[in-house]
Amino acid sequence: MTNLMSDPFFRLLKGAVIKATGMQFFADKDDELAEVIGRRIEAIGAADCAAYYQLVTDPQEGRAERDELANELTIGETYFFRHRELFDAIRDVVLPDVIARNRDKRRLRVWSAGCATGAEPYSLAIMLRREFAAALEGWRVHIIGTDINKKFLAIASRAKYGDWALRATPEGERPLYFHAEKDGWSLRPEFRETVSFQAHNLAEDPFPSVADDLYDFDIVICRNVTIYFAEGLVGEVIAGFHECLVEGGWLLPGHAEAGVDLFRAFRTVNVPGAVIYQKPGEDRPSEDWATDIPAPDEESFLDRDADSGDQGREAGGLPLEDAELAALGKLIDRGEWRLALDFAAGIEARYSHRSAFFLRRALAEQGLGRVAEAQESLRKAIFIDRQYALAHYYLGVCLRGQGDLSAAARAFANAASVAGRRRADEGVSDVEGLTFGTLVRMAETQLRMARQ
Ligand SMILES: C[S@@+](CC[C@H](N)C(=O)[O-])C[C@H]1O[C@@H](n2cnc3c(N)ncnc32)[C@H](O)[C@@H]1O
Repeated sequence: MTNLMSDPFFRLLKGAVIKATGMQFFADKDDELAEVIGRRIEAIGAADCAAYYQLVTDPQEGRAERDELANELTIGETYFFRHRELFDAIRDVVLPDVIARNRDKRRLRVWSAGCATGAEPYSLAIMLRREFAAALEGWRVHIIGTDINKKFLAIASRAKYGDWALRATPEGERPLYFHAEKDGWSLRPEFRETVSFQAHNLAEDPFPSVADDLYDFDIVICRNVTIYFAEGLVGEVIAGFHECLVEGGWLLPGHAEAGVDLFRAFRTVNVPGAVIYQKPGEDRPSEDWATDIPAPDEESFLDRDADSGDQGREAGGLPLEDAELAALGKLIDRGEWRLALDFAAGIEARYSHRSAFFLRRALAEQGLGRVAEAQESLRKAIFIDRQYALAHYYLGVCLRGQGDLSAAARAFANAASVAGRRRADEGVSDVEGLTFGTLVRMAETQLRMARQ
């Protein structure tokens, strides 16, 4: 291995591999890369690193070997309904919008780019059938899952999973979507029929591509894929997705994945626990959630101070713009939970009466998986301001995550009731682009599900 790393062709090979897969991730992981390359050289009996380099960089002859490398180098961690908050947003914001837009053409096209073994596109198929069967009756629905790793795609096509892939699917729901088998769970055929898989390399294959059926999408979801890419490539990929979307279509990246600057061509919509992006379009239905948002660097998630409780005191003299709370909001926006908590600890003494402070702290705690602490912070926020609809909502999300569905239902009912007292088109101060109308709808859906 050490030999391989000191071979003059290793550096060239490394550059070629990073270019072919986009996996900048390996730029500082020579050991791991050399191990994989060493294994491959042995497997195909290449004479040396130079011979292997020649093969891998041959446009035609090297294709199969590049696939083998991609199969070895990529990381396929995925599971059903990963990041619930995003699926909540798809259900409550994205799909109602797309269905309203497409009601004449009765067509829905979704691309799950970097789908790994298929849990992501199948989760969407489950949601469509479970929640939108009536609205989509007679529609042409197609969900395309693509990945660079053909082994993952073969697993996706078999649609058979172990418990680990179902870890966010409540036990009671599993039999609704899967047949239990001796050695795993087989997805029921009705959730497979709208989903297809094909190989596609985001770093090299063109898109949009009519030939590959990668164009005219209503939704593109691409999560935990570009985190391994160099920033330049991430920008190109996001631009490509923009081209692949119809006007008004939605791009759903992973949580706090790429800087908001890269999404300038999109409208930013914040929903509880997720940031999603919409390609601007002419014919936006006048839904209450569709709020124009300033350019991302002008204002971002949670970068404003006021919640309903603080607004009351604001009249009593507290400044509206509070740099520290805004900074805390920005850290949370970027997913820097640990830093956010350190920062919160430093300013806590001066904010013990501010519900907005406790909501932010709860989000950072939740981000780090400290659910009990997050709950405590949310309860403090609610104690300070009983009318804090968002805190009730997040408390529901926390309790749901812990499996306490009756307490979650109470929290969602409180959120719906408190938010319902506000004007439907009024913006929720903490979350850019979210209105009280949408929050009521989201809380009510959650309430229904918690009571099921
Ligand atoms: C961590 S998984 C994410 C799976 C799923 N999107 C999720 O969030 O659950 C990352 C996937 O990206 C794929 N990938 C990596 N580089 C890629 C590329 N250049 N083109 C397409 N897919 C790629 C990997 O093969 C892997 O399946």
